[in-house]
Amino acid sequence: MAITYYKRFRMEIDLDGSLPPPDLAAPFWWVAWDESLVEHHAEVKFRCFRDEIDSHVFPCLGERNGCQRLMREIRRKPGFLAVSTWLIASPDGYCGTVQGVMDRGPIGAIQNLGVVPEFRGMGLGQALVRQALEGFYQAGLRRAYLEVTAENSAAVQLYRSVGFRRSKTLYKAVDG
Ligand SMILES: CC(C)(COP(=O)(O)OP(=O)(O)OC[C@H]1O[C@@H](n2cnc3c(N)ncnc32)[C@H](O)[C@@H]1OP(=O)(O)O)[C@@H](O)C(=O)NCCC(=O)NCCS
Repeated sequence: MAITYYKRFRMEIDLDGSLPPPDLAAPFWWVAWDESLVEHHAEVKFRCFRDEIDSHVFPCLGERNGCQRLMREIRRKPGFLAVSTWLIASPDGYCGTVQGVMDRGPIGAIQNLGVVPEFRGMGLGQALVRQALEGFYQAGLRRAYLEVTAENSAAVQLYRSVGFRRSKTLYKAVDG
C-alpha cells in the first residue's frame, strides 16, 4: 500500500501575559466547556475539517464518528484543560471550536482549531487561539505549542499572526 508523507510544523509561543484577551463582537459569543458539549464540539470539528487537508492527514477528522471518538479521547486525557476549550456560538448555531490540553513540560497544546467555512475570515480563528492561550496562562502555563500541516497556509499564517514560531519540522506517514 502506498504511503504518503505530510510535512508538518511544530510551532511554539511563550506566554508572558502580554497578549490581550480576545474581543468577540456581536453576534458571536463564547461558550465555556461543559460536559454536555462533547457532541457539539465534535459536530463543529466535523464541519470544519471534512473538506480540508487535515482530513487526509488524520482520516478520523473527515468522519462524524471519527470526530466524536476523537473529542471523547481528548476529554479523557489527564491534561485536558476546560479553561482552554471553547466554542463560539452565533444566532445560526455553533461556528468554531478549540480544545486545550496540558502536556508534559508542562506545556499547553492546542488541539483541532476549527471555524466552519461560512464564518471564516472574520477573526474567529484568531480569537479562539488567543482564548485558548489565555486559558493556558490562567492555568499557570508559560509556553504553548501546536502542530500544523505545512500546506495549510491559512492556519500557518494565523498562528504566525498570533506570535507562534516554527520550532520543528515533522513528517506524518499516512497509509493508502
Ligand atoms: C484555519 C482556520 C481556523 C482559520 O480561521 P479563520 O476564522 O478564517 O481565521 P481568522 O479570520 O481569525 O484569520 C486570522 C489570520 O489568519 C490568516 N489567515 C486566515 N485565513 C487565511 C487564508 N485563507 N489565507 C491566508 N491567511 C489566512 C491571516 O493572517 C488572518 O489575519 P488577517 O485577517 O488579519 O489577514 C480555518 O480556515 C479552518 O477552520 N480551517 C479548517 C480546519 C483547520 O485546518 N484548522 C487548523 C488545524 S491546525
